[in-house]
Amino acid sequence: MTRGFGIVGTGVIAAIHADAIALLSETGLSETGLSETGLPPARLAAVTDVDAGGAVAFAAARGCPAEPDLGALLARRDVDVVCVCVPSGLHAAIGVQAAKAGKHLVVEKPIDVTLEAADQLIDAARAAGVALTVISQHRFDPGLVELKRLLDDGTLGRLVLGEASTKWYRAQAYYDSAAWRGTYAMDGGSLMNQGVHYVDLLRWCMGPVAEVSAMCSTQAHQIEVEDTSLAVVRFVSGAVGTILSSTAAFPGFPQRLEITGTEGTVTIEDGRIVGRALAGQADPTTLAPAAEADAGPSAAADPAGVDIASHAAQLADLLDAVEGGRDPAVSGRDGRDALEIILAVYESSRTGRPVRLSS
Ligand SMILES: NC(=O)c1ccc[n+]([C@@H]2O[C@H](COP(=O)([O-])OP(=O)(O)OC[C@H]3O[C@@H](n4cnc5c(N)ncnc54)[C@H](O)[C@@H]3O)[C@@H](O)[C@H]2O)c1
Repeated sequence: MTRGFGIVGTGVIAAIHADAIALLSETGLSETGLSETGLPPARLAAVTDVDAGGAVAFAAARGCPAEPDLGALLARRDVDVVCVCVPSGLHAAIGVQAAKAGKHLVVEKPIDVTLEAADQLIDAARAAGVALTVISQHRFDPGLVELKRLLDDGTLGRLVLGEASTKWYRAQAYYDSAAWRGTYAMDGGSLMNQGVHYVDLLRWCMGPVAEVSAMCSTQAHQIEVEDTSLAVVRFVSGAVGTILSSTAAFPGFPQRLEITGTEGTVTIEDGRIVGRALAGQADPTTLAPAAEADAGPSAAADPAGVDIASHAAQLADLLDAVEGGRDPAVSGRDGRDALEIILAVYESSRTGRPVRLSS
């Protein structure tokens, strides 16, 4: 039996989904690091987009049919999983319809732009008994897999400090390229769109956030949302941290995560460990520079610079979760938790006051 994917929205990120599905169908799951045992092969069954011409061109390039609308795509019995690749403020609306049609869900980040919409999506998936994963592909990057192992086995000791930084560059032309970009209703600012990846990683590593104090500003673009945000965070554990995100940092730098515990510090850049100082090491202060040869695609200055392998690993995890009757590694709840932190950053910046989180 084959697992058929349908893609809704055939823009920039849809190409990565199609490439990831192709990788899974070509290689089985061996390149994803997940077991191949019992997992059915994947294939792209159909796509759709409100821009019919765009969908037809995308489908022709991928050798699959373009359906005229969402209803037609959801009516296909060979579509088991729907990848929601539309503007962020439409994720829940499309996802709820797909869940009601009995399709498993891969929803691009962020889960949506409001907690109400996120809750509707999570509830709809639960009610329909379908699996829901929100894309956070960097959890599957090799450096993050290794860092999580070090955290889980206690190598870093008790966590003290976590820093997440996304200093990227987007020209005004990026925001002008589609009407939804840079709007509150459909996109959110640099933290909601670009920084969300490392916000999820920070929470994944450090645990739940108790309180946020933040400042956001719009400095280098004609947009209604922020292009730069800076937050100080207190975690429920008592550890503290910082979140920084910008699309005004020319020419764009690696995304960075640094986790410090009582027994050491690990530094990640663009998904690879570039520094590891552990109390048990012979030379505990040695920080290794990133090997040039290891550098993969980077979205620091290119919105399409996304590594296919990590998306493929997350799609494979969803298939494995469906087969095994377990929750996906990145759940709808995880997507909601990242969104809650981002919205708290925005509220704190707006009000000038610290914001306490409920989860
Ligand atoms: N995981 C990542 O690294 C990553 C990278 C880029 C974008 N994204 C996310 O992917 C989503 C899409 O971003 P993008 O850059 O591909 O945008 P895009 O504008 O290039 O593509 C969105 C597509 O959705 C279509 N669309 C709009 N409304 C629709 C509807 N109701 N039904 C069907 N199609 C509809 C548009 O016509 C467009 O073709 C966003 O949520 C974004 O945050 C994730």
